[in-house]
Amino acid sequence: MLQRPRRNRKSEVIRQMVQETHISAANMIFPLFIVDGVNKKTEVASMPGIYRYSIDNLLREVEACAKLGLMSFDLFPNIEESLKDKLATESHREEGLYLRAIREVKKNFPEVCIVTDVAMDPYSSDGHDGLVENGEILNDETLEILGKMALAQAQAGADIIAPSDMMDGRVGYIRNVLDDHKFTNVSIMSYSAKYASAFYGPFRDALESAPKFGDKKTYQMNPANQREALIEANLDEIEGADFLMVKPALAYLDVIKLLKDNTELPVAAYNVSGEYAMIKAAAQRGWLNEERSTVEVLTSIRRAGATAILSYHSKEVLEKGWI
Ligand code: PBG
Repeated sequence: MLQRPRRNRKSEVIRQMVQETHISAANMIFPLFIVDGVNKKTEVASMPGIYRYSIDNLLREVEACAKLGLMSFDLFPNIEESLKDKLATESHREEGLYLRAIREVKKNFPEVCIVTDVAMDPYSSDGHDGLVENGEILNDETLEILGKMALAQAQAGADIIAPSDMMDGRVGYIRNVLDDHKFTNVSIMSYSAKYASAFYGPFRDALESAPKFGDKKTYQMNPANQREALIEANLDEIEGADFLMVKPALAYLDVIKLLKDNTELPVAAYNVSGEYAMIKAAAQRGWLNEERSTVEVLTSIRRAGATAILSYHSKEVLEKGWI
């Protein structure tokens, strides 16, 4: 036998020498949930180890992460029901929870990278990502609201704006609004291929943002489709996106690979709440080795072609020295 592939697996040193894929803090983005109030830190029941923080505790958490080298954060607000309305007005109110949080983090830690979420659902009394009329999600009318939201976030200090709403034309619309207001340096990470997935359940618990009627299938993609992801990705590229995101990650590794092979922009992948919950639940029961399964999942997402990974595991893997 001339070729014996096992020779390159014979010791830890050689295995590491030929290792093709690595995960590091530099590639990780940590999603953080925010809630109004003081000194609050409440665990999300379906996401063990993940909390909703009031702004004071959020600052402590960002500091703790930065000490581990984890420097990028994607913020999501849990908005009180009484502040929600049809137009998601709270999303661009200057003294609203979300914009205050962005300002505070950037004031205290100017060097960290803040990714902000653009979509109406956390602020919408309908629980949808767009404006609802007679049970329908209106596209072009939603863009105006998303533009206001993105601009307010840029003004608050966002480094990267991440539209997660899946309205048509939103990347171009937001790019124009930002440029018109001289925010030419604020980036856009587009949720390009965002699927109508069952794996967002725990996230909707965290934000209490589940749709009040129906589902999100008229705007989020059909999990059965791959080619359609290319249409979305190409449009986002033309419209001015800086990153293309695939979401969820684990059940869509083929889509990550497809975008990696067919586009030039860095590809991000969102290892979503339900993917996190699956590992936690199995680990709690002793059914999976938590360290090994977590690192394997993150590695597979990188191997498929993701440059950046948004993951609820980000802090833990660094804190525990798993990567
Ligand atoms: C909403 C949004 C969702 C997530 C990020 N932004 C949920 C949804 O589309 O209903 C999900 C993230 C996760 O599950 O971790 N615009």
